[in-house]
Amino acid sequence: MKVAATLTVNGVAYPVELHPGTSLLAAVRDVIGLTGAKEGCDDSECGACMMLLDGKPLNSCSYLALQADGREVTTVEGLATGDELSPLQRAFLDYGGVQCGFCTPGMLISATALLDAKPTPTEEEVRIALSGNLCRCTGYDGIVKAVLAVAGS
Ligand code: FES
Ligand code: FES
Repeated sequence: MKVAATLTVNGVAYPVELHPGTSLLAAVRDVIGLTGAKEGCDDSECGACMMLLDGKPLNSCSYLALQADGREVTTVEGLATGDELSPLQRAFLDYGGVQCGFCTPGMLISATALLDAKPTPTEEEVRIALSGNLCRCTGYDGIVKAVLAVAGS
């Protein structure tokens, strides 16, 4: 049995019909078609699937889509303005925070949430905020530098 709901993602309302057990990640990727958020572990371990729900980061692989009905979901696609990258996205490129890119959408979401809550974080605060996002490529330093470069600007 499917249930009708409306998911609001990056400011656009999507009427959907979902099985009750569908994760928010599956709904956004497979039903709505926004594939920026990635499925890594599917078990709340890697952060690749991170989205903002009412401005707070969460692992969308472990959150039921129907629980997001009536709330605001933001994915990495919502960070840019048209073709214009956000300052944080640009900084990830400039500081070597992107290699294979698999972790990048989740990293950007976590960093966005941090900077929204605390515009001038310390390096330690950045590292703590990103501790739920795993990266197997960059060694993290470029990512942290990118966030600090944008902080307070
Ligand atoms: S895919 Fe969700 S935390 Fe890894
Ligand atoms: S850039 Fe490859 S996992 Fe982070």
